[in-house]
Formats: sequence, C-alpha cells, structure tokens
Amino acid sequence: MNILVTGGAGFIGSHTVVELVKAGYSPFIIDDLSNSNESVLEGLKNILGFDVPFFNADCNDFEIVDQIVKENKIEGIIHFAAFKAVGESVEKPLKYYRNNIGSLLSILEVMQANKVRNLVFSSSCTVYGQPDFIPVTEDTPKKKAESPYGNTKAIAEDILEDVIKSGENVAMISLRYFNPIGAHESAEIGELPNGVPSNLIPFVTQTAIGKRAKLTVFGDDYDTNDGSNVRDFIHVVDLAKAHVSALDLLKTKENAFYDVFNLGTGRGNSVLEVIQTFEKVNNVKLNYEIGPRRAGDVVKIYGNVEKADEILGWKTEKTLEESLRDAWAWELKLKNNKK
Ligand code: UD1
Repeated sequence: MNILVTGGAGFIGSHTVVELVKAGYSPFIIDDLSNSNESVLEGLKNILGFDVPFFNADCNDFEIVDQIVKENKIEGIIHFAAFKAVGESVEKPLKYYRNNIGSLLSILEVMQANKVRNLVFSSSCTVYGQPDFIPVTEDTPKKKAESPYGNTKAIAEDILEDVIKSGENVAMISLRYFNPIGAHESAEIGELPNGVPSNLIPFVTQTAIGKRAKLTVFGDDYDTNDGSNVRDFIHVVDLAKAHVSALDLLKTKENAFYDVFNLGTGRGNSVLEVIQTFEKVNNVKLNYEIGPRRAGDVVKIYGNVEKADEILGWKTEKTLEESLRDAWAWELKLKNNKK
C-alpha cells in the first residue's frame, strides 16, 4: 500500500517512514525542508538500504500533491507537515494558520479528488489546554488553545469531524501526541531542529555537547512534586509505530470512520527528573539553571493511553532512560559527522 508521508523528512515523520517500511507499506515523502534537512534522507537510506521516494514540495500546493498522489497511486496519507514552535506562533499567527490549516485543506481536497480514503493526522495533547484533571482521556473536553499553534491542531480536528459529518466515505484518525523525544537506535536519524531549539530535549543534548552554554529550566515553583513542569515523554520510535497501527485499523474500515487517540506513555516526568535521568544514564554533567516560567506552559499533563491499547493494539515499549540514551547517541553522532 503506497502511503504519502507529508513532513516525512521531519523528526516524527522520518521515524514513521522506517516503521512503515518494516511493516510492508511503501512510503513516499513530501517535504519542503522548511524545518528539516536533506541529510535525513541519507540517514533513512542507511537504515533501509534504498532511497525512499522524495518530493521537495509544499503540501499547501494542491496541484503538486494531486500530481504526486495520481502518479504514485497513493492509497493513504499521513499528514505530519506543519509548523510547531509555540512561541513563534504567538508572534506570527497568520504564518501558522496559513500553513497548518492550508496544508490540511489541500490534503483533504486531494483525497476527495482521487478517492483516497485513509488519513492519519498529527494532532497534539495541546488540544486539552490546561486540563482540570490528569491523566487526560480522549473524552476530556478540549479547552481553548494556549497558542495559535495549539489552535491550528484544535481547528484541524474540527475540520476532520465536519468532513465526516458531511457524509464523505473516508476513514481518518487523529493522533494526539504527548512529548516525543529520543532517536532511532541506529543514530542515523533523530531530532534536527533548525537554529536554537525550543523543545527541551534538543536543548539538553546541545547543552551537554557544548553547543549551548546553559539550559534554563522554565520555573521550579509550579504545583508539582519538585516544582518543575510535568510532561509525558514518549520515545519517537514507539510513537512512529502507532502510525502503522492506525493505518492497519483504517484499512479495515469500509464505511466513514473517524477517531482520536492519545499517544503517550501514561506516565508523567518532571523537567528536573528528565535532567537528572539524562545525567545519570549518559554519565554527563549538564550545565543548567532555574529561570522564570515560560509564558503559555501547561503546569502538568500526561495521558491515559488505554484507548490506543484497546483499539489500536498499541502501547509504548521504551523507557525514559532509553529515550535519553538514544537522544544523546544521536547528538554525539551529529558531532562526529561534522569532524
Ligand atoms: C509544546 C506543546 C505541544 C507541541 C510541542 C511542539 C503545549 C502545552 N505543548 O510542548 O503541544 O506539540 O510544543 O513543539 O503547548 N523546557 C525548559 N527549558 C527549555 C525548554 C523546555 O525548562 O529550554 C520545559 C518547558 O517549560 C516544558 C518542558 O520543558 O515544561 C517541555 O517543553 P517543550 O519540549 O517545549 O514541549 P511542550 O511545551 O511540552
């Protein structure tokens, strides 16, 4: 089954491409490299032993996506391509609405035009906003998003629901990711942020390797066990495998179908716990300081992940320790490649 992976050169996209191939699917990548790098394709080749078909294009462009879908007999789409920097989205909301909503609309229109029935959409736990109770389940009410980025995910989910309500015979799943971290065990692919990372783990690894002078922990006075924020950190390979499970389920659906799933470990770890674990498993010292809170940060969130286990037959296998070891191995590999 030929699968179009938008944003397939990105962090989660590239790991998903590997798992798709392992499961017998044929991925085709479309990526405009706006927040990724062509070197990822080299990493994929080293893992898989062949070149994954790649199109350097923007999936806001209906004509191009339509042509790729037609020429390659695409039967399913995994739509990762989106901007994801929360802070930047507050400064440049239109950039985020244009790209994240525009690309979803063109993907849905291409599906309609070509009778492609299956879509897996990258959503986020950001749709829960600051939840009243944790762990959040898929039935936890969505709250007003804390940022334009978060709002693009909430709106996108609404768009998918409206498509289903319209009677269109498509089968779609939204996957609500918690915090993906780690890297492929081969260290051939991993997280490759452009410029200064805004996410925690790349900042941790870049500080440990000396690319950044110091990590700032954004607040230690929250109402949590040690005062720092709590998140559900999930290994990116576990997350990638869930996309295969989602496609496997969609293929069995002959009638219109839409569902949402939390993808996390079901456990919360604080930022300070992550730092301590990173230091311990990798035997490195991290230069960090406690700084002020970051605007818009949710205090504490982790997911109930029973639904994915029951319906997708998926659950995480890797530990926080493995994730942090793999993230570090990847940073070391990047350094060695530059020598
Ligand atoms: C956020 C979004 C998430 C989105 C992701 C994409 C929210 C609530 N979550 O995740 O939906 O998919 O961005 O980028 O909007 N931290 C530090 N120092 C740093 C960096 C981070 O202390 O230098 C802390 C943060 O305050 C946070 C935790 O580490 O508590 C994780 O931060 P980050 O990796 O940016 O992810 P989220 O903000 O959880």
